Amino acid sequence: MTLSIVILAAGLGKRMHSAEPKVLHRLAGSSLLEHVVHTAEKLKPQALPIIIYGHQGELVRHRLADLNVSWVLQNQQLGTGHAVQQALPTLPKSGQVLVLYGDVPLITLETLKNLIANTPENSLGIVTAELPDPAGFGRIIRNTKNQITAIIEEKDASEKQRDINEINTGIYLIPAALLHQWLPTLTNTNAQQEFYLTDLISIAVAEKISIVSIQPKHFEEILGVNNRLQLACLERFYQQQIAEKLMLQGVTLRDPHRFDVRGDVSIGQDVVIDINVILEGHVSIGNGCSIGPNTVLRNVVIGENTEIKANSFIDGAEIAESCSIGPFARIRPGTILASKSHIGNFVEIKNSMIGTASKISHLSYIGDSEIGNQVNIGAGTITCNYDGVNKHKTTIGDNVFVGSNTELIAPVTIGEGATIGAGSTITRNAPAHQLTVCRASQRSIDNWQRPKKKEKEQ
Ligand code: UD1
Ligand code: CA
Repeated sequence: MTLSIVILAAGLGKRMHSAEPKVLHRLAGSSLLEHVVHTAEKLKPQALPIIIYGHQGELVRHRLADLNVSWVLQNQQLGTGHAVQQALPTLPKSGQVLVLYGDVPLITLETLKNLIANTPENSLGIVTAELPDPAGFGRIIRNTKNQITAIIEEKDASEKQRDINEINTGIYLIPAALLHQWLPTLTNTNAQQEFYLTDLISIAVAEKISIVSIQPKHFEEILGVNNRLQLACLERFYQQQIAEKLMLQGVTLRDPHRFDVRGDVSIGQDVVIDINVILEGHVSIGNGCSIGPNTVLRNVVIGENTEIKANSFIDGAEIAESCSIGPFARIRPGTILASKSHIGNFVEIKNSMIGTASKISHLSYIGDSEIGNQVNIGAGTITCNYDGVNKHKTTIGDNVFVGSNTELIAPVTIGEGATIGAGSTITRNAPAHQLTVCRASQRSIDNWQRPKKKEKEQ
Protein backbone atom coordinates (compact mmCIF):
# COMPACT_ATOMS: atom_id res chain seq x y z
CA MET A 1 0.00 0.00 0.00
CA THR A 2 1.44 3.36 -1.06
CA LEU A 3 1.71 5.89 1.75
CA SER A 4 1.96 9.59 0.96
CA ILE A 5 2.35 12.28 3.59
CA VAL A 6 1.12 15.86 3.48
CA ILE A 7 2.19 18.27 6.21
CA LEU A 8 0.20 21.50 6.51
CA ALA A 9 2.39 24.44 7.40
CA ALA A 10 1.03 27.46 5.56
CA GLY A 11 -0.76 29.08 8.50
CA LEU A 12 0.15 32.49 9.82
CA GLY A 13 0.93 31.90 13.50
CA LYS A 14 -0.17 35.39 14.48
CA ARG A 15 -0.41 34.57 18.17
CA MET A 16 3.33 33.86 18.41
CA HIS A 17 3.88 37.64 18.00
CA SER A 18 7.07 36.87 16.18
CA ALA A 19 9.03 37.89 13.12
CA GLU A 20 9.86 34.19 12.73
CA PRO A 21 7.38 31.92 11.00
CA LYS A 22 5.72 29.71 13.62
CA VAL A 23 6.99 26.36 12.34
CA LEU A 24 10.59 27.58 12.70
CA HIS A 25 10.23 28.10 16.44
CA ARG A 26 12.20 25.52 18.34
CA LEU A 27 11.17 22.79 20.70
CA ALA A 28 13.94 20.73 22.28
CA GLY A 29 16.46 22.24 19.90
CA SER A 30 14.70 21.53 16.59
CA SER A 31 12.10 23.52 14.71
CA LEU A 32 8.49 22.42 15.07
CA LEU A 33 8.43 21.40 11.42
CA GLU A 34 11.60 19.31 11.73
CA HIS A 35 10.02 17.30 14.52
CA VAL A 36 7.06 16.44 12.31
CA VAL A 37 9.19 15.67 9.25
CA HIS A 38 11.53 13.42 11.22
CA THR A 39 8.63 11.44 12.63
CA ALA A 40 7.01 11.25 9.18
CA GLU A 41 10.24 9.95 7.62
CA LYS A 42 10.28 7.04 10.02
CA LEU A 43 7.08 5.78 8.38
CA LYS A 44 9.12 5.31 5.18
CA PRO A 45 6.62 6.86 2.76
CA GLN A 46 7.07 6.02 -0.93
CA ALA A 47 7.68 9.63 -1.90
CA LEU A 48 9.12 12.55 0.04
CA PRO A 49 6.74 14.16 2.52
CA ILE A 50 4.96 17.13 0.94
CA ILE A 51 5.02 20.37 2.91
CA ILE A 52 2.30 22.89 2.18
CA TYR A 53 3.91 26.23 2.84
CA GLY A 54 2.69 29.77 2.48
CA HIS A 55 3.11 32.48 5.05
CA GLN A 56 6.78 33.57 5.03
CA GLY A 57 7.24 30.34 3.14
CA GLU A 58 10.43 31.26 1.34
CA LEU A 59 12.11 31.85 4.67
CA VAL A 60 10.91 28.47 5.95
CA ARG A 61 12.17 26.77 2.79
CA HIS A 62 15.48 28.54 2.98
CA ARG A 63 16.09 27.79 6.65
CA LEU A 64 15.04 24.17 6.36
CA ALA A 65 16.72 23.59 3.01
CA ASP A 66 18.37 20.43 4.36
CA LEU A 67 15.05 18.69 4.91
CA ASN A 68 14.34 15.94 2.46
CA VAL A 69 10.83 17.01 1.46
CA SER A 70 8.88 18.42 -1.46
CA TRP A 71 7.55 21.92 -1.06
CA VAL A 72 4.16 22.92 -2.38
CA LEU A 73 3.03 26.53 -2.17
CA GLN A 74 -0.42 27.54 -0.93
CA ASN A 75 -0.61 31.11 -2.09
CA GLN A 76 -3.59 32.12 -0.02
CA GLN A 77 -4.58 30.39 3.19
CA LEU A 78 -8.17 29.48 2.44
CA GLY A 79 -8.47 26.61 4.89
CA THR A 80 -7.18 23.12 5.63
CA GLY A 81 -9.17 21.56 2.76
CA HIS A 82 -7.75 24.10 0.33
CA ALA A 83 -4.26 23.44 1.70
CA VAL A 84 -4.41 19.69 1.00
CA GLN A 85 -5.92 20.46 -2.40
CA GLN A 86 -2.64 22.15 -3.40
CA ALA A 87 -0.92 18.78 -3.07
CA LEU A 88 -3.32 16.94 -5.40
CA PRO A 89 -1.21 17.33 -8.56
CA THR A 90 1.73 15.80 -6.66
CA LEU A 91 -0.21 13.01 -4.94
CA PRO A 92 -0.61 9.54 -6.46
CA LYS A 93 -4.11 8.44 -7.43
CA SER A 94 -4.02 5.36 -5.22
CA GLY A 95 -2.82 4.36 -1.80
CA GLN A 96 -3.33 6.33 1.41
CA VAL A 97 -2.53 9.91 2.32
CA LEU A 98 -1.54 10.83 5.86
CA VAL A 99 -2.28 14.45 6.81
CA LEU A 100 -0.12 16.01 9.54
CA TYR A 101 0.34 19.55 10.87
CA GLY A 102 3.63 21.39 10.93
CA ASP A 103 2.72 22.98 14.25
CA VAL A 104 1.85 19.74 16.07
CA PRO A 105 5.40 18.70 16.85
CA LEU A 106 5.06 15.83 19.28
CA ILE A 107 2.90 13.41 17.37
CA THR A 108 4.53 10.02 17.93
CA LEU A 109 5.50 7.31 15.51
CA GLU A 110 3.55 4.90 17.70
CA THR A 111 0.28 6.81 17.22
CA LEU A 112 0.79 7.13 13.47
CA LYS A 113 1.60 3.44 13.12
CA ASN A 114 -1.48 2.66 15.15
CA LEU A 115 -3.57 4.83 12.80
CA ILE A 116 -2.15 3.07 9.75
CA ALA A 117 -2.59 -0.40 11.24
CA ASN A 118 -6.23 0.27 12.15
CA THR A 119 -7.39 1.99 8.97
CA PRO A 120 -8.44 -0.43 6.20
CA GLU A 121 -7.43 0.51 2.66
CA ASN A 122 -10.75 2.06 1.66
CA SER A 123 -11.66 3.64 4.99
CA LEU A 124 -10.97 6.99 6.50
CA GLY A 125 -8.90 7.03 9.68
CA ILE A 126 -8.89 9.86 12.21
CA VAL A 127 -6.86 10.50 15.33
CA THR A 128 -9.18 11.90 18.00
CA ALA A 129 -8.52 12.78 21.63
CA GLU A 130 -10.47 13.40 24.80
CA LEU A 131 -9.41 16.75 26.16
CA PRO A 132 -10.21 18.14 29.60
CA ASP A 133 -10.66 21.49 27.84
CA PRO A 134 -11.73 21.03 24.22
CA ALA A 135 -12.07 24.77 23.50
CA GLY A 136 -10.91 25.79 20.05
CA PHE A 137 -10.95 22.33 18.50
CA GLY A 138 -13.38 20.72 16.09
CA ARG A 139 -15.70 18.34 17.98
CA ILE A 140 -16.30 14.75 17.00
CA ILE A 141 -19.99 13.99 16.48
CA ARG A 142 -21.03 10.36 16.94
CA ASN A 143 -24.40 8.63 16.45
CA THR A 144 -26.08 6.25 18.88
CA LYS A 145 -23.99 3.39 17.46
CA ASN A 146 -20.91 5.39 18.40
CA GLN A 147 -20.01 5.88 14.74
CA ILE A 148 -18.44 9.19 13.73
CA THR A 149 -20.87 11.18 11.62
CA ALA A 150 -19.26 14.62 11.42
CA ILE A 151 -16.68 17.04 12.74
CA ILE A 152 -18.09 20.41 13.73
CA GLU A 153 -15.73 23.35 14.10
CA GLU A 154 -16.13 25.22 17.37
CA LYS A 155 -17.23 28.36 15.55
CA ASP A 156 -19.98 26.40 13.81
CA ALA A 157 -20.99 24.30 16.85
CA SER A 158 -24.14 24.53 18.95
CA GLU A 159 -23.77 24.97 22.70
CA LYS A 160 -24.54 21.30 23.22
CA GLN A 161 -21.93 20.25 20.68
CA ARG A 162 -19.36 22.41 22.44
CA ASP A 163 -19.79 20.24 25.54
CA ILE A 164 -18.31 17.29 23.67
CA ASN A 165 -14.82 16.51 24.92
CA GLU A 166 -13.75 14.33 22.04
CA ILE A 167 -11.91 16.51 19.54
CA ASN A 168 -10.46 16.27 16.07
CA THR A 169 -6.68 16.33 16.18
CA GLY A 170 -6.59 17.10 12.45
CA ILE A 171 -4.50 14.01 11.72
CA TYR A 172 -6.12 11.72 9.16
CA LEU A 173 -5.36 8.80 6.89
CA ILE A 174 -7.41 9.14 3.72
CA PRO A 175 -7.57 7.00 0.55
CA ALA A 176 -5.82 9.03 -2.17
CA ALA A 177 -8.53 8.22 -4.72
CA LEU A 178 -11.20 9.73 -2.47
CA LEU A 179 -9.12 12.86 -1.85
CA HIS A 180 -8.85 13.41 -5.61
CA GLN A 181 -12.60 12.92 -5.91
CA TRP A 182 -13.78 14.89 -2.88
CA LEU A 183 -11.45 17.87 -2.38
CA PRO A 184 -12.64 19.73 -5.51
CA THR A 185 -16.22 19.49 -4.23
CA LEU A 186 -15.59 21.29 -0.89
CA THR A 187 -17.34 24.63 -0.33
CA ASN A 188 -16.63 27.42 2.12
CA THR A 189 -20.13 28.07 3.40
CA ASN A 190 -19.28 28.13 7.11
CA ALA A 191 -18.58 30.60 9.89
CA GLN A 192 -14.94 31.14 8.82
CA GLN A 193 -15.61 31.01 5.06
CA GLU A 194 -12.82 28.46 4.73
CA PHE A 195 -12.56 25.19 2.83
CA TYR A 196 -12.63 22.73 5.71
CA LEU A 197 -10.83 19.42 5.40
CA THR A 198 -13.16 18.21 8.14
CA ASP A 199 -16.08 18.32 5.70
CA LEU A 200 -14.67 15.13 4.18
CA ILE A 201 -16.10 13.29 7.17
CA SER A 202 -19.72 14.12 6.31
CA ILE A 203 -19.01 13.27 2.67
CA ALA A 204 -17.61 9.90 3.74
CA VAL A 205 -20.69 9.27 5.86
CA ALA A 206 -22.99 10.16 2.95
CA GLU A 207 -21.04 7.84 0.64
CA LYS A 208 -21.00 5.06 3.25
CA ILE A 209 -17.22 4.97 3.52
CA SER A 210 -16.35 3.56 6.91
CA ILE A 211 -14.54 5.81 9.40
CA VAL A 212 -12.23 4.50 12.08
CA SER A 213 -10.66 6.46 14.91
CA ILE A 214 -7.77 5.91 17.24
CA GLN A 215 -6.47 7.91 20.19
CA PRO A 216 -2.93 8.82 21.21
CA LYS A 217 -1.38 7.52 24.44
CA HIS A 218 -0.95 11.07 25.80
CA PHE A 219 -3.09 13.91 24.56
CA GLU A 220 -0.09 16.30 24.58
CA GLU A 221 1.13 14.54 21.43
CA ILE A 222 -1.61 16.06 19.38
CA LEU A 223 -1.54 19.58 20.79
CA GLY A 224 -0.60 22.34 18.41
CA VAL A 225 1.54 25.37 19.13
CA ASN A 226 -0.31 28.65 18.67
CA ASN A 227 1.51 30.81 21.20
CA ARG A 228 4.67 30.76 23.28
CA LEU A 229 2.88 29.54 26.37
CA GLN A 230 1.76 26.42 24.54
CA LEU A 231 5.27 26.04 23.16
CA ALA A 232 6.70 26.08 26.68
CA CYS A 233 4.10 23.59 27.92
CA LEU A 234 4.93 21.15 25.13
CA GLU A 235 8.64 21.62 25.76
CA ARG A 236 8.14 20.66 29.42
CA PHE A 237 6.01 17.66 28.46
CA TYR A 238 8.67 16.49 26.02
CA GLN A 239 11.48 16.95 28.54
CA GLN A 240 9.55 15.11 31.21
CA GLN A 241 9.02 12.16 28.85
CA ILE A 242 12.75 11.93 28.10
CA ALA A 243 13.71 12.34 31.76
CA GLU A 244 11.32 9.58 32.83
CA LYS A 245 12.62 7.23 30.18
CA LEU A 246 16.24 7.83 31.20
CA MET A 247 15.55 7.43 34.91
CA LEU A 248 13.76 4.12 34.28
CA GLN A 249 16.82 2.99 32.30
CA GLY A 250 19.15 3.57 35.23
CA VAL A 251 20.21 7.20 35.02
CA THR A 252 20.07 9.31 38.19
CA LEU A 253 18.76 12.80 37.52
CA ARG A 254 19.16 14.98 40.59
CA ASP A 255 16.16 16.96 39.41
CA PRO A 256 14.30 15.86 36.27
CA HIS A 257 12.80 19.37 36.04
CA ARG A 258 16.21 20.89 35.64
CA PHE A 259 17.52 18.73 32.83
CA ASP A 260 17.12 19.40 29.11
CA VAL A 261 17.74 17.24 26.09
CA ARG A 262 17.92 18.95 22.70
CA GLY A 263 18.88 16.09 20.43
CA ASP A 264 19.50 12.34 20.64
CA VAL A 265 21.09 10.95 23.73
CA SER A 266 22.28 7.59 24.85
CA ILE A 267 23.23 7.35 28.51
CA GLY A 268 24.62 4.30 30.30
CA GLN A 269 23.81 2.88 33.71
CA ASP A 270 24.70 4.55 36.97
CA VAL A 271 25.29 7.88 35.36
CA VAL A 272 24.54 10.70 37.77
CA ILE A 273 23.45 14.01 36.28
CA ASP A 274 23.27 17.02 38.53
CA ILE A 275 20.96 19.99 38.00
CA ASN A 276 20.85 22.39 35.03
CA VAL A 277 22.52 20.08 32.57
CA ILE A 278 21.77 20.59 28.85
CA LEU A 279 22.51 17.86 26.32
CA GLU A 280 22.49 18.98 22.69
CA GLY A 281 22.91 17.21 19.36
CA HIS A 282 24.22 13.66 19.61
CA VAL A 283 25.41 12.90 23.09
CA SER A 284 26.56 9.54 24.36
CA ILE A 285 27.61 9.05 27.97
CA GLY A 286 29.15 5.78 29.18
CA ASN A 287 28.31 3.83 32.35
CA GLY A 288 29.29 5.30 35.66
CA CYS A 289 29.94 8.86 34.53
CA SER A 290 28.94 11.87 36.54
CA ILE A 291 27.98 15.21 35.06
CA GLY A 292 28.23 18.22 37.34
CA PRO A 293 25.72 21.04 37.58
CA ASN A 294 25.37 23.81 34.95
CA THR A 295 27.11 21.80 32.29
CA VAL A 296 26.40 21.85 28.56
CA LEU A 297 27.38 18.84 26.46
CA ARG A 298 26.92 19.22 22.71
CA ASN A 299 27.83 16.46 20.25
CA VAL A 300 30.00 14.64 22.74
CA VAL A 301 30.92 11.02 23.26
CA ILE A 302 32.10 10.19 26.76
CA GLY A 303 33.59 6.84 27.86
CA GLU A 304 32.86 5.07 31.15
CA ASN A 305 33.54 6.48 34.60
CA THR A 306 34.49 9.94 33.46
CA GLU A 307 33.69 12.84 35.71
CA ILE A 308 32.62 16.20 34.28
CA LYS A 309 32.63 18.77 37.06
CA ALA A 310 30.40 21.81 37.44
CA ASN A 311 30.06 24.61 34.89
CA SER A 312 31.82 22.96 31.99
CA PHE A 313 30.97 23.55 28.32
CA ILE A 314 31.94 20.72 26.03
CA ASP A 315 31.24 20.85 22.30
CA GLY A 316 32.24 18.42 19.58
CA ALA A 317 34.61 16.25 21.61
CA GLU A 318 35.45 12.61 22.17
CA ILE A 319 36.35 11.90 25.75
CA ALA A 320 37.61 8.48 26.77
CA GLU A 321 37.02 6.61 30.03
CA SER A 322 38.13 7.66 33.50
CA CYS A 323 38.85 11.29 32.66
CA SER A 324 38.28 14.21 34.95
CA ILE A 325 37.13 17.47 33.38
CA GLY A 326 36.38 20.83 34.94
CA PRO A 327 35.07 22.59 36.91
CA PHE A 328 34.83 25.50 34.43
CA ALA A 329 36.40 23.68 31.49
CA ARG A 330 35.70 24.65 27.91
CA ILE A 331 36.31 21.97 25.34
CA ARG A 332 35.74 22.89 21.72
CA PRO A 333 35.20 20.95 18.50
CA GLY A 334 37.81 18.53 17.27
CA THR A 335 39.14 17.62 20.69
CA ILE A 336 39.97 14.03 21.57
CA LEU A 337 40.92 13.18 25.13
CA ALA A 338 42.47 9.78 25.82
CA SER A 339 41.71 7.86 28.99
CA LYS A 340 42.58 9.25 32.42
CA SER A 341 43.22 12.72 31.08
CA HIS A 342 42.73 15.49 33.53
CA ILE A 343 41.49 18.89 32.42
CA GLY A 344 41.08 21.41 35.21
CA ASN A 345 39.51 24.80 35.74
CA PHE A 346 39.62 27.58 33.17
CA VAL A 347 41.24 25.40 30.56
CA GLU A 348 40.18 25.82 26.93
CA ILE A 349 41.02 23.10 24.43
CA LYS A 350 40.30 23.27 20.72
CA ASN A 351 40.96 20.78 17.93
CA SER A 352 43.58 18.88 19.89
CA MET A 353 44.49 15.35 20.90
CA ILE A 354 45.51 14.80 24.47
CA GLY A 355 47.19 11.48 25.36
CA THR A 356 46.57 9.06 28.19
CA ALA A 357 46.88 10.35 31.75
CA SER A 358 48.03 13.79 30.66
CA LYS A 359 47.16 16.77 32.84
CA ILE A 360 46.24 20.31 31.97
CA SER A 361 45.06 21.43 35.34
CA HIS A 362 44.70 25.19 35.35
CA LEU A 363 44.15 28.27 33.20
CA SER A 364 45.50 27.14 29.83
CA TYR A 365 44.68 27.41 26.14
CA ILE A 366 45.55 24.43 24.00
CA GLY A 367 44.66 24.75 20.31
CA ASP A 368 45.56 22.68 17.23
CA SER A 369 47.86 20.51 19.31
CA GLU A 370 48.88 16.91 19.64
CA ILE A 371 49.93 16.08 23.16
CA GLY A 372 51.35 12.66 24.10
CA ASN A 373 50.84 10.47 27.14
CA GLN A 374 51.59 11.47 30.73
CA VAL A 375 52.32 15.04 29.84
CA ASN A 376 51.97 17.75 32.46
CA ILE A 377 51.04 21.20 31.24
CA GLY A 378 51.59 23.84 33.89
CA ALA A 379 49.14 26.58 34.82
CA GLY A 380 48.78 29.41 32.35
CA THR A 381 50.33 27.65 29.37
CA ILE A 382 49.24 29.00 26.00
CA THR A 383 49.72 27.43 22.60
CA CYS A 384 50.03 30.45 20.32
CA ASN A 385 48.48 28.73 17.32
CA TYR A 386 47.36 31.75 15.31
CA ASP A 387 49.64 34.25 13.59
CA GLY A 388 46.77 36.46 12.54
CA VAL A 389 46.32 34.61 9.26
CA ASN A 390 47.11 30.92 9.64
CA LYS A 391 46.68 28.31 12.35
CA HIS A 392 49.75 26.26 13.26
CA LYS A 393 50.26 23.02 15.11
CA THR A 394 51.95 22.30 18.41
CA THR A 395 53.29 18.79 18.99
CA ILE A 396 54.28 17.64 22.45
CA GLY A 397 55.83 14.19 23.03
CA ASP A 398 55.16 11.72 25.84
CA ASN A 399 56.27 12.55 29.38
CA VAL A 400 56.90 16.20 28.66
CA PHE A 401 56.69 18.66 31.55
CA VAL A 402 55.75 22.19 30.59
CA GLY A 403 56.36 24.70 33.38
CA SER A 404 53.73 27.29 34.25
CA ASN A 405 53.07 30.37 32.20
CA THR A 406 54.74 29.08 29.07
CA GLU A 407 53.95 30.30 25.57
CA LEU A 408 54.47 27.74 22.84
CA ILE A 409 54.65 29.61 19.55
CA ALA A 410 53.46 27.26 16.85
CA PRO A 411 54.48 25.56 14.69
CA VAL A 412 56.63 23.97 17.36
CA THR A 413 57.54 20.50 18.60
CA ILE A 414 58.57 19.56 22.12
CA GLY A 415 60.48 16.27 22.12
CA GLU A 416 59.64 13.32 24.33
CA GLY A 417 60.58 13.66 27.98
CA ALA A 418 61.55 17.34 27.59
CA THR A 419 61.11 19.85 30.38
CA ILE A 420 60.24 23.45 29.64
CA GLY A 421 61.15 25.95 32.30
CA ALA A 422 58.32 28.04 33.70
CA GLY A 423 57.74 31.40 32.06
CA SER A 424 59.37 30.43 28.77
CA THR A 425 58.39 31.70 25.38
CA ILE A 426 59.25 28.79 23.12
CA THR A 427 59.74 29.76 19.48
CA ARG A 428 61.86 26.83 18.27
CA ASN A 429 61.62 23.07 18.68
CA ALA A 430 62.75 21.79 22.08
CA PRO A 431 64.84 18.60 22.08
CA ALA A 432 63.81 15.44 23.90
CA HIS A 433 64.91 14.78 27.49
CA GLN A 434 66.49 18.23 27.99
CA LEU A 435 65.52 21.26 29.95
CA THR A 436 64.71 24.13 27.66
CA VAL A 437 64.23 27.49 29.21
CA CYS A 438 63.77 30.77 27.46
CA ARG A 439 63.27 33.74 29.70
CA ALA A 440 65.30 36.72 30.76
CA SER A 441 67.66 35.74 33.55
CA GLN A 442 67.02 37.19 36.95
CA ARG A 443 69.14 40.02 38.29
CA SER A 444 68.98 42.26 41.32
CA ILE A 445 70.00 45.91 41.37
CA ASP A 446 71.87 47.29 44.30
CA ASN A 447 71.02 50.68 45.76
CA TRP A 448 67.93 50.94 43.70
CA GLN A 449 65.44 53.48 45.01
CA ARG A 450 61.77 53.11 44.64
CA PRO A 451 60.31 56.45 43.40
CA LYS A 452 58.63 58.38 46.16
CA LYS A 453 55.26 60.06 46.03
CA LYS A 454 55.33 63.85 46.41
CA GLU A 455 53.79 64.89 49.69
CA LYS A 456 50.47 66.63 49.17
CA GLU A 457 50.32 70.29 50.18
CA GLN A 458 47.92 70.77 53.05
C1 UD1 B 1 -8.23 22.40 12.51
C2 UD1 B 1 -9.45 21.51 12.30
C3 UD1 B 1 -10.10 21.23 13.65
C4 UD1 B 1 -9.09 20.57 14.57
C5 UD1 B 1 -7.83 21.43 14.68
C6 UD1 B 1 -6.75 20.65 15.41
C7 UD1 B 1 -10.35 22.16 10.14
C8 UD1 B 1 -11.40 22.91 9.42
N1 UD1 B 1 -10.38 22.20 11.46
O1 UD1 B 1 -8.70 23.61 13.04
O2 UD1 B 1 -11.21 20.36 13.49
O3 UD1 B 1 -9.65 20.36 15.84
O4 UD1 B 1 -7.30 21.74 13.38
O5 UD1 B 1 -5.68 21.49 15.67
O6 UD1 B 1 -9.53 21.51 9.50
N2 UD1 B 1 -3.19 25.46 7.41
C9 UD1 B 1 -2.70 25.65 6.14
N3 UD1 B 1 -3.39 26.36 5.23
C10 UD1 B 1 -4.60 26.89 5.51
C11 UD1 B 1 -5.13 26.71 6.80
C12 UD1 B 1 -4.40 26.00 7.72
O7 UD1 B 1 -1.59 25.17 5.85
O8 UD1 B 1 -5.18 27.50 4.62
C13 UD1 B 1 -2.42 24.70 8.39
C14 UD1 B 1 -1.98 25.54 9.57
O9 UD1 B 1 -0.70 26.07 9.36
C15 UD1 B 1 -1.98 24.53 10.70
C16 UD1 B 1 -3.05 23.53 10.29
O10 UD1 B 1 -3.25 23.70 8.92
O11 UD1 B 1 -0.76 23.84 10.79
C17 UD1 B 1 -4.35 23.74 11.05
O12 UD1 B 1 -4.85 25.01 10.76
P1 UD1 B 1 -5.63 25.85 11.81
O13 UD1 B 1 -6.09 27.09 11.19
O14 UD1 B 1 -4.84 25.94 13.05
O15 UD1 B 1 -6.89 24.90 12.02
P2 UD1 B 1 -7.88 24.99 13.19
O16 UD1 B 1 -8.83 26.08 12.92
O17 UD1 B 1 -7.16 24.99 14.47
CA1 CA C 1 -4.69 25.36 15.24
